[in-house]
Amino acid sequence: MKILALTFLLLFAQVQSQSSCPDYSEYSKARHPPYSSGTYALPYQRLPPACRTFNSTIIEEVINSMSTLIHDPDLYRLFENTLPNTLDTAIRWRGVAANNSAEELTFIITGDINAMWLRDSANQLQSYHVFLPTSPDTTTDSLSSLFRGVINLQARYLLTSPFCNSFQPPPESGIPPATNGASASDTVFPPYDLQKVFECKYELDSLAAFLQISTTYASITHDTAFFTKFQWVHAVRAALSTAKAMMTPTYDANGAVLNSPYTFTRLTTRTTETLANDGLGHPVARDIGLIRSAFRPSDDSTTFQFLIPANMMFAHYLQPTSDILFAINETVLGQEIRDFGTSLRDAITTHGIVSVPSAKDGNETETIYAYEVDGFGSSLIMDDANVPSLLSAPLLGYTNPSDPVYLRTRNRILDSDSGNGNPYFMRGPVINAVGGPHAGPGMAWPMASIVRILTSQDDDEISKTLKEILASTCGLGLIHESVNAFNASRWTRQWFSWANGLFGQMIYDIKDRNPGILAQSFQ
Ligand SMILES: *[C@@H]1O[C@H](CO)[C@@H](O)[C@H](O)[C@H]1NC(C)=O
Ligand SMILES: *[C@@H]1O[C@H](CO)[C@@H](O)[C@H](O)[C@H]1NC(C)=O
Ligand SMILES: *[C@@H]1O[C@H](CO)[C@@H](O)[C@H](O)[C@H]1NC(C)=O
Ligand SMILES: *[C@@H]1O[C@H](CO)[C@@H](O)[C@H](O)[C@H]1NC(C)=O
Ligand SMILES: *[C@@H]1O[C@H](CO)[C@@H](O)[C@H](O)[C@H]1NC(C)=O
Repeated sequence: MKILALTFLLLFAQVQSQSSCPDYSEYSKARHPPYSSGTYALPYQRLPPACRTFNSTIIEEVINSMSTLIHDPDLYRLFENTLPNTLDTAIRWRGVAANNSAEELTFIITGDINAMWLRDSANQLQSYHVFLPTSPDTTTDSLSSLFRGVINLQARYLLTSPFCNSFQPPPESGIPPATNGASASDTVFPPYDLQKVFECKYELDSLAAFLQISTTYASITHDTAFFTKFQWVHAVRAALSTAKAMMTPTYDANGAVLNSPYTFTRLTTRTTETLANDGLGHPVARDIGLIRSAFRPSDDSTTFQFLIPANMMFAHYLQPTSDILFAINETVLGQEIRDFGTSLRDAITTHGIVSVPSAKDGNETETIYAYEVDGFGSSLIMDDANVPSLLSAPLLGYTNPSDPVYLRTRNRILDSDSGNGNPYFMRGPVINAVGGPHAGPGMAWPMASIVRILTSQDDDEISKTLKEILASTCGLGLIHESVNAFNASRWTRQWFSWANGLFGQMIYDIKDRNPGILAQSFQ
């Protein structure tokens, strides 16, 4: 009798909790007990188990095992909340393709917006790449399956609309397409279907993101057979031909204006939400060998279309992509991609490294990476918080952290005060970090602080930056998109899944590189 009643109660509780799972965009704005025992008393922001969108035994084990290594109770709580955030909240749907039951699909939302970005979804899973098994795992409830599902769905998206950055749920999911008020006024060439596409901003790093998640999965799991099974090779061709089309300059050799393969305008009061010259963007020069990007990874428009960090990311991931292609006997495409990677690197060295005054009032110069160039001689010296950024160049695999050009660039983009710094480096009593036009001056991005740590070799810099991140969650125990450098109560985006995962990934990386830091107090 008693046992029956208990069973009934348990069943009832489960049904109850599934039907009453909170909306995380509201849940993440409130503090939930229990609170960590440090001075920040950070809340526990993970959803109840029954409401989580994916369960991973290995991630739970990692979270538990780190409890003894991280001595600061607030830092541990932030790690515990953030590492699983994508798995807990953003795996919106998993299934298989309507016409092939072997083709897994994973639809991952960016967090507070119900659509899948190519860049975000690749990065959201990137946080878990070190936990992938080192041999093929064909089970369907595994991290490997999540990766395969995202690669397959991204391949479909690239074959549908290769210039677009953000997409609707697949019809197989039965989830209705989200409406995007901002996109309603867009005039975009080539045209696209709003039932399939959420937004169509052409960003080179979206193409690179597909190569990144594909090659990460391949290099760790050694599952090359997967890449022969579905649309992957076709999607690589689509990404390659889109990137090559976007090398089209503004004028031909006689000065005639060429048709651009992509144009975009939007009715907006923000200049960074539309393109100059009726959707063309600012002119770019001929025979430069770089690829244009209409928008940045912040989804803001570029000033000069040769966006160097995105070219770095694409150039880097072409190399391991060619390795997969050779392994599956696609040697012609593999060779084309390998050669393209080499020429792109040469073009970045020739046109992306610029000479700038090295001090405010001297006449000496130094060479650094520009953020954007136009090939005519103009360059933009800044960095933006979103990845790919110049700060993240070693993380993207493009260069190593001791590259002297990178180090000079790094010194400049982590400084705003010397007259030769980064116009988007924010300073203040709360947090000092790169920001960007997306959230505007004054707003520092914790994501840039995380990247700073991931690319730093200096223990003091790592500790100081970590302390600032921990102190700037406004008591909510999650990583926000941006935080006002003078007032921690002013922040944007309570549910930015990628930034949370990246924080967890960074702590796990510190465990291997500088474990002593995790034994420190950040109170
Ligand atoms: C995760 O596990 C919990 C039980 O701990 C279960 O209630 C929930 O349905 C699982 N979630 C998924 C997506 O399988
Ligand atoms: C399955 O459908 C997709 C479109 O969703 C199509 O591109 C693909 O070629 C189809 N595959 C097969 C095996 O018919
Ligand atoms: C590639 O070609 C070689 C030699 O013809 C063959 O042994 C191998 O099985 C092929 N691999 C794939 C993945 O088709
Ligand atoms: C510029 O550099 C030269 C040496 O390279 C030096 O003689 C000269 O005084 C410098 N001028 C200024 C304004 O600093
Ligand atoms: C900080 O920001 C919050 C939220 O916008 C505001 O209520 C508060 O007055 C600000 N504090 C200061 C000192 O400006």
